[in-house]
Amino acid sequence: MRVLVVGSGGREHALCKKINESSKVKELFVAPGNYGIKKEASCVDISVEDISSLVSFAKEKEIDLTIVGPEAPLALGIVDEFEKEGLKIFGPSKEAAKLESSKVFAKQVMEENDIPTARASEFTDSDEAKKFAASLVPPVAIKADGLCAGKGVVIAQSREEILQTVVGFMEEKEFGDASAKILIEEYLEGQEVSVLAFCDGENIIPMVSSQDHKPAYDGDRGPNTGGMGAYSPAPIFSDEDMDFTTKNVLKPTVKAMGEKGVPFKGILYAGLIMTEQGPKVLEFNVRFGDPEAQAVIPRLKTDLVDVMIAACNGKLDSITLDWDDRPAVCVVAASGGYPGSYTKGYEIKGIDDFDDSSDVMLFGAGVKDKEGVPVTAGGRVLGVTAMADTLADAQQKAYRRLGQIDFKDMHYRRDIGDKGVNL
Ligand code: AMP
Ligand code: GLY
Repeated sequence: MRVLVVGSGGREHALCKKINESSKVKELFVAPGNYGIKKEASCVDISVEDISSLVSFAKEKEIDLTIVGPEAPLALGIVDEFEKEGLKIFGPSKEAAKLESSKVFAKQVMEENDIPTARASEFTDSDEAKKFAASLVPPVAIKADGLCAGKGVVIAQSREEILQTVVGFMEEKEFGDASAKILIEEYLEGQEVSVLAFCDGENIIPMVSSQDHKPAYDGDRGPNTGGMGAYSPAPIFSDEDMDFTTKNVLKPTVKAMGEKGVPFKGILYAGLIMTEQGPKVLEFNVRFGDPEAQAVIPRLKTDLVDVMIAACNGKLDSITLDWDDRPAVCVVAASGGYPGSYTKGYEIKGIDDFDDSSDVMLFGAGVKDKEGVPVTAGGRVLGVTAMADTLADAQQKAYRRLGQIDFKDMHYRRDIGDKGVNL
């Protein structure tokens, strides 16, 4: 088989590494990929949003299966375009991707189907939003409806901040049309857990749980990032919590989408918060999380290509997932200044061309090749994932390996995994 992966981050590197373990795969391409992924796949210089070029490439190379990493091409309708051409692709259609690309749509699906989530009100008129805001006791979560590259959620700590955010989102159009509609949502407290499931439009198979670390600095302080590290499983998430989430979140969501005539195929990612009343949904994503994928995918023992083909063919009921019991910890190394502005182009030392062992893996993200030398090229530069018999050992192993890597102003959190180890 010839497989194409769309994306360029650590998530796509982890996907490519796992796909290469499948004996069915003869050729693997990634568009656009990065310096780290080129160990696994041939990098093709097409951007993730250039859907017509991706379709042409898939036709020309007779690609048997395309797998989409990030949300942007899904929201643009890459799956619809590939399927129109008879090309097999793993991911949701544009309409189904609205579970991520419209927070208002996702909230409606949850409310209509009694899926546990934070109470929220929707606004398209800023005066009404401001009037409502005046009656609230902070903190509250204010969410732009559309995709805002992870910046569309503000936890407002005062009435003034609520008002400022409403004005910024709706009147000053900080994110254009994406913030013209907003949700004002009850603030929930608890640890966050990510649960991802393979879906085929009807059947779902949940994966092992994981926990992301969104804030930039230790102790969950500082601005939110795309994710500074993850570990899997999340010990706070019991088997009962998994059963509850499968029954009350994942299954009813996929069923509801089917009933709406937009069957959900691909990865359904439930971002949960563990409240005193049990898990509640903070958000849905329609793809693998990053860095969660870098902690979860290495633990998968079942052939990933088999699972994805079964999902494309509506046959997930024939699949059982087999997991490595050992926990995995992924720590992300970022450019100094991320998620704010940062300098690119620094030489990265100690990565040895991304060749590591089966239980310590390096995944490239913002890394590029400058005349044969790896240099930084993004906010999140790379991830180091380690697996071991205990979470504490996996954590130590990941940090030991990360300690051998260096680039100017390298920044990483020192506490990834602590919440699980100290539980
Ligand atoms: P989202 O994109 O909806 O996951 O929001 C980004 C982050 O904001 C989440 O990972 C949470 O840390 C936080 N957040 C979102 N909604 C809420 C909420 N209702 N209560 C508390 N924190 C929230
Ligand atoms: N790590 C969060 C996300 O991928 O959305």
